[in-house]
Amino acid sequence: MNAILETAPADVLSGNADWSKKLPFTSTLRFRLILSVAVVHAVLMGLFIWDAVSEQSDSLRAELQNRGHALTSLMAVATTNALLAEDLASLAEVTARIRNQPDVKYGEVVDAEGNVLASTDSRRIGRRVRDRIASSEAMPLPAGDHVLDLREDIKVAGRTVGSVFLGLSTDNLDHALAATRNEGLLFILIALVAGSVAAWALSFAATRNLHAMILAVRRITGGDMDVRVSATGKDEVSLLARAFNTMVESLQRTSEQVRSEHEKRTEAERLACVGELSASIAHEIRNPLSAIINSVKLLARGDIAEDDRSQLTGIVNGEAERLQRILNDFLTFSRVPESKVQSADLCQLVTETVALLNNDSSLPQTVTMRARLCCQQCLGRFDPDQIRQVLMNLVMNAVQAMSGSGEVVIEVAATQHDLIVRVIDSGSGIPDELIDKVTRPFVTGRNNGTGLGLSIVQRILMQHGSKLQIVSHRGVGTEVSFILSGA
Ligand SMILES: Nc1ncnc2c1ncn2[C@@H]1O[C@H](COP(=O)(O)OP(=O)(O)OP(=O)(O)O)[C@@H](O)[C@H]1O
Ligand SMILES: [Mg+2]
Repeated sequence: MNAILETAPADVLSGNADWSKKLPFTSTLRFRLILSVAVVHAVLMGLFIWDAVSEQSDSLRAELQNRGHALTSLMAVATTNALLAEDLASLAEVTARIRNQPDVKYGEVVDAEGNVLASTDSRRIGRRVRDRIASSEAMPLPAGDHVLDLREDIKVAGRTVGSVFLGLSTDNLDHALAATRNEGLLFILIALVAGSVAAWALSFAATRNLHAMILAVRRITGGDMDVRVSATGKDEVSLLARAFNTMVESLQRTSEQVRSEHEKRTEAERLACVGELSASIAHEIRNPLSAIINSVKLLARGDIAEDDRSQLTGIVNGEAERLQRILNDFLTFSRVPESKVQSADLCQLVTETVALLNNDSSLPQTVTMRARLCCQQCLGRFDPDQIRQVLMNLVMNAVQAMSGSGEVVIEVAATQHDLIVRVIDSGSGIPDELIDKVTRPFVTGRNNGTGLGLSIVQRILMQHGSKLQIVSHRGVGTEVSFILSGA
């Protein structure tokens, strides 16, 4: 039954899965979507609030200015007669009344010479403020005061007889603007949070199926073809999920076809191999068997000379021994035991094997055996008994390929993870027509060889996850190599 992935499981969403660890949150679609929405919200809201605040500021300032002009005009009218009559008491009364008006910070009446005749600040009465008259400067107030300064000259028959000064507090205006600004900031914050939550929800819905698909791909890569993703929505991602499921179904069908084809082919190859092997065995044992049968027939006749009899008996013995050797070798080949792979020193194994071969009196003394080692100790993972057998078989082949004197070198080299073994000889080399098939059973180039030595070597190496590499040049020599895992 197919497994449906509704959404990525908890370990994926919580970031414990491998793919999630590799993808930082800042690179995810979710983060980008949330960030874009947040930035756009913040900029738009900021512009809107800035526009609203500056419009409110303009209108409040204009309103304050109008009120200020109205008050200065009123003050100018109210003080004209008193100014002409130099009636300081009336002037003081006017400034006191003006002071009571909302937002008024100060009020002052100055004559044409710049003498302060009346002021909301009684300490200033009698001072000369010519400079202010000339430059229209405002009345000096403590720093930090927010005041709108206004002035109106009092004219009688075109002549300036004095001026009134008025300061209106802008505190209320500033408070109103600050309140609007604060409200705006609050709106920006709310918009940011709401936008981010909405973006997260949207991105979650959009990428949920994508996450499930990533997980499904991981499981498919691991060989689980029954996995499917949920594809119930109507959006593009759901369409993609449906297409993904269709693709996986077709992939599953194809891989099942491939598997069944492979099984059929393997079975056919196995049968062909069995047939080939049977033919090889039959071929190998037919000659000695015919020789034995013919010899026994002749011996059975009874009318043969004593010399012929002992010759025939010798043939029967020799061929029977050959048959026995063929069967023994074949049994070794067909029953290569499971490799007991362990951590062992390959250099030590090679040194021991070379010493053993050098002391073997059955081998020609004209052949020199030598070990060429990359280091004192090289640990690898292999079955020492089986690799010793591999080395023996390879060295025997090398020795048999030499007529007279020569040298066989067993070399061990190490890479970062592997050990490389080479058996190099200066023998006759392998004939071109044989080189591609010497590892097949019963393929031999020697008269008394069974052709199973390299097949056994190949099987042992296969069990070690390795295989033989052969490079050979006629008349120069042969190099046979294989690789073992380092420890
Ligand atoms: N180092 C070598 N130099 C030249 N020929 C080689 C070498 N190694 C293998 N051969 C060729 O490959 C053939 C197959 O070798 P293999 O060891 O499988 O069988 P064999 O040596 O003929 O018989 P046996 O089963 O007794 O080992 C050999 O008969 C020989 O012709
Ligand atoms: Mg051999």
